[in-house]
Amino acid sequence: AAASAVEVGGVKIARDDVVKEDDPTNNVPDTIFSKIGLQLHRRDNHPLGILKNTIYDYFDKNFAGQFDKFDDLCPLVSVKQNFDDVLVPADHVSRSYNDTYYVDSQTVLRCHTSAHQAELLRDGHTHFLVTGDVYRRDSIDSTHYPVFHQMEGFRVFSPDDWLGSDMDGTAYAAADLKKTLEGLARHLFGDVQMRWVDTYFPFTNPSFELEIYFQDDWLEVLGCGVTEQEILKRNGRTDHVAWAFGLGLERLAMVLFDIPDIRLFWSNDKRFTSQFSEGKLGVKFKAFSKFPPCYKDMSFWINDAFTENNLCEVVRGIAGDLVEEVKLIDNFTNKKGMTSHCYRIAYRSMERSLTDEEINNLQLNVREAVKDKLNVELR
Ligand code: PHE
Repeated sequence: AAASAVEVGGVKIARDDVVKEDDPTNNVPDTIFSKIGLQLHRRDNHPLGILKNTIYDYFDKNFAGQFDKFDDLCPLVSVKQNFDDVLVPADHVSRSYNDTYYVDSQTVLRCHTSAHQAELLRDGHTHFLVTGDVYRRDSIDSTHYPVFHQMEGFRVFSPDDWLGSDMDGTAYAAADLKKTLEGLARHLFGDVQMRWVDTYFPFTNPSFELEIYFQDDWLEVLGCGVTEQEILKRNGRTDHVAWAFGLGLERLAMVLFDIPDIRLFWSNDKRFTSQFSEGKLGVKFKAFSKFPPCYKDMSFWINDAFTENNLCEVVRGIAGDLVEEVKLIDNFTNKKGMTSHCYRIAYRSMERSLTDEEINNLQLNVREAVKDKLNVELR
């Protein structure tokens, strides 16, 4: 059974204040509440803690301890902190109940560590790193999990920094940002293929993503850019410029430690946890055994409210970490205008073989829950 309360950074969080099944302004399930307070990034023998500490080392070495570090800030934040303070537009998709976990209409589980930029700036910090668990409703596959960990970096420059150069403040900050993050990537990976991609974030301009080549694919590992003036102005740093980045610790750790599935980070199995030790970055994970996946298909007529994220939440609510992937494999609309979706669910434990009986039961329960909670018509 889930604990009834947890404490994070001195803030006590009661289960009943976060999970409110009958409240339409709340969409936090127990599976999510049960992750709050675990703070995998604060375990020095866990891949995420090892990675965090290695990034700390890079900044300590290159910036003479100027970066202030935070890794215990409460993940429950206001809508203002998570969105308004970083200029996320009122109609941006990330604000939707489909993408973000809302505790009530004014409170969310932070969906990014950028939620802390404004308060730390106001508190006078000019160089800081914020590491924490972040929460996003999403679909299910080997690189997506509704709770993951980010590290935010932020650096403020004053006019003195760029006036001696031949660049304006923005160009100066952008150049420093890229240099700093390329240095970090080399510190972590040595030699790895990487590329910069132009992108958009509401809080930075220009904005970039860094991608790293992994398992035959380009993997997005961080977003970054030059902070919007408005954020600096509102928080006591008029006439300054700044850069910011937010990196996904799991994405980097999967590459560095050869961890094939994001669910493994949550495993308490000694065969996983004992493979990692403090200070040892990049020890390659040895799979204890490969258990076969089992695939089950289910088809239903969707309704207007249907979303894949809602489906995935229901599936995880029943199957927990035994579900590896939920994938749309067929989609058609009949003459009456009814749309049918067929999803293939992959079940696999990272720790043991599943029996046919267990999987059949899971699938039956998933079908029931999908029918009841999503009001779709099973076929
Ligand atoms: N908050 C962004 C995300 O979660 C990452 C980011 C941080 C981008 C800081 C730019 C600057 O995707």
